[in-house]
Amino acid sequence: METKPLSMLNLLLETHIGLKRQGPGSSEVVEQALGFLKPLNQFLRIADLGCGTGGQTICLAQHLPGMITGLDMFPDFIEKLNENVKSMNLENRVTGIVGSMENLPFQKNSLDLIWSEGAIDNIGFEEGISHWHDFLKKGGFVAVTCPSWLTRERPTAVDQFWSAAGSRLDGVSTNIEIMQRCGYQFIASFTLPEQCWTENYFIPREAAINRLSKKYAGNETMIAYEEQNRYESELYSKYKQYYGYVFYIGRTI
Ligand SMILES: C[S@@+](CC[C@H](N)C(=O)[O-])C[C@H]1O[C@@H](n2cnc3c(N)ncnc32)[C@H](O)[C@@H]1O
Repeated sequence: METKPLSMLNLLLETHIGLKRQGPGSSEVVEQALGFLKPLNQFLRIADLGCGTGGQTICLAQHLPGMITGLDMFPDFIEKLNENVKSMNLENRVTGIVGSMENLPFQKNSLDLIWSEGAIDNIGFEEGISHWHDFLKKGGFVAVTCPSWLTRERPTAVDQFWSAAGSRLDGVSTNIEIMQRCGYQFIASFTLPEQCWTENYFIPREAAINRLSKKYAGNETMIAYEEQNRYESELYSKYKQYYGYVFYIGRTI
């Protein structure tokens, strides 16, 4: 029987499908960000963009009364989200759909809240924030995390890594300025704590990669993939004072 060659994308999906989160974050941070959105009972239509398998989507459903749509480009992640939603009896309030953050399938002026963790940098902070604006009602909120520079000094190794991954880092003040330029009132921003990266993401990811490494022992793509992931963790450990995920919360005016 012919077996398909392994690709980096297959490995990325196989690594992440069983993880609670597909990027840095935590339920405590979700709650901290929600603290800026009171009163929570006004949030009836919510979209969680780049939701992955929906760790934060489920957390949102536990705190907000409304209907939540999780959207992601990978059907496998959405299938997993919908399985989890069903097992928690949340299917009357939470739905996962496959789609693109760059071409939202919602009606204009229909959403009370757009949430997005660890995903907007894939399309660019400004592109995302400006495209999403029109789907929010007047006075609707956006709450997104984005990898950002935390200092004026910007190590080249970090810049090169994120650029090669198809992303880019901007300073916090630049992103706040972009929000304001795109028609939002700036509400708050805060940096995610280190454990969001380490305990909640790198450590479970490493365990999943170790399992795959045994499954695909000796495969060249697997070796390159493992090395790439190890480099990302080492880079963070070395330069974490310079960059991190930042939550940005804004409101349409
Ligand atoms: C780092 S993961 C974060 C997942 C999840 N929000 C979390 O924090 O655990 C980024 C997610 O964005 C999704 N994504 C990237 N680009 C996308 C796009 N253009 N449209 C929809 N989803 C996208 C990926 O499939 C992935 O699930």
